[in-house]
Amino acid sequence: MDTALSGQVALVTGSASGIGRATALMLAAAGARIALVDRDAAGLAAVAIDIGPDARTFEADLGNGGSLPGLVSSVLEAFGRIDILVNSAGITGTSATQPQSTTDFTDAQLDTILAINLRAPLILVREVGRHMVARGGGGRIVNVSSSAAFRATTSPPIYAASKAGLNALTRTAAADLGPHGVNVNSVAPGPTRTSMLADVDQYLEEMVKSGPLANLTQKVSEAEDVAAVIRFLCLPDSRQMTGQVLHTSAGLVV
Ligand SMILES: NC(=O)c1ccc[n+]([C@@H]2O[C@H](COP(=O)([O-])OP(=O)(O)OC[C@H]3O[C@@H](n4cnc5c(N)ncnc54)[C@H](O)[C@@H]3O)[C@@H](O)[C@H]2O)c1
Repeated sequence: MDTALSGQVALVTGSASGIGRATALMLAAAGARIALVDRDAAGLAAVAIDIGPDARTFEADLGNGGSLPGLVSSVLEAFGRIDILVNSAGITGTSATQPQSTTDFTDAQLDTILAINLRAPLILVREVGRHMVARGGGGRIVNVSSSAAFRATTSPPIYAASKAGLNALTRTAAADLGPHGVNVNSVAPGPTRTSMLADVDQYLEEMVKSGPLANLTQKVSEAEDVAAVIRFLCLPDSRQMTGQVLHTSAGLVV
């Protein structure tokens, strides 16, 4: 039995699906108790069953920033502490009916994408960071960014800007929280087989072999590929890594 994280509590947003779900399962397998946060109640319930008694679900719309201090309080009430925060929830905010180019997006798209992808992580880092500093003993924060923050093409502008903001948050939070033993890092996945890319699922194998999203291994990333790096960033082994953006895009960005 893996006990590397036993006694620790991880709050994982977006854990009803994809990278957040895979991360929650891996952190639980390493012995952590998990606060599963998502707006998808059915998805949360399914993951909670997979994990067992060490998981609790917290249904929340991260687009509602005002509710987030209360969410963190509820997690602290339930578990008594938070050692790990993973900000995985995110949206591209793009669809066939909602294009997103530099000259074509709505103010509503802008507000929604920034609220979920950037404002919520900022508030959660503030709230959980305060708790970690007050508690003492350190902690880990991992933000799920994107290769989109580093690419000019095939990169929706609001989404890309939100992820670039997350990388800036990672650096400044790492500086502020480092003296308190809290390490803050980002991972930047390339195209990864999750429900976020369900629309293009049938093209993924081709996409990673040729064209602007081709990667160096020519293999599609799975949610577990990204989650394994997040897990590493939560382990004592990575104690001297902070303020970094780790590219988990198979060399799409080098
Ligand atoms: N899949 C990819 O190709 C890819 C590539 C780069 C980065 N990412 C990033 O990875 C992260 C995880 O995405 P994924 O691929 O696992 O997608 P996913 O759609 O499988 O999971 C995203 C989760 O976030 C939740 N969520 C969305 N909006 C929310 C809100 N307002 N409140 C609460 N929960 C909300 C969804 O319900 C879902 O469970 C995202 O931040 C995404 O931007 C994904």
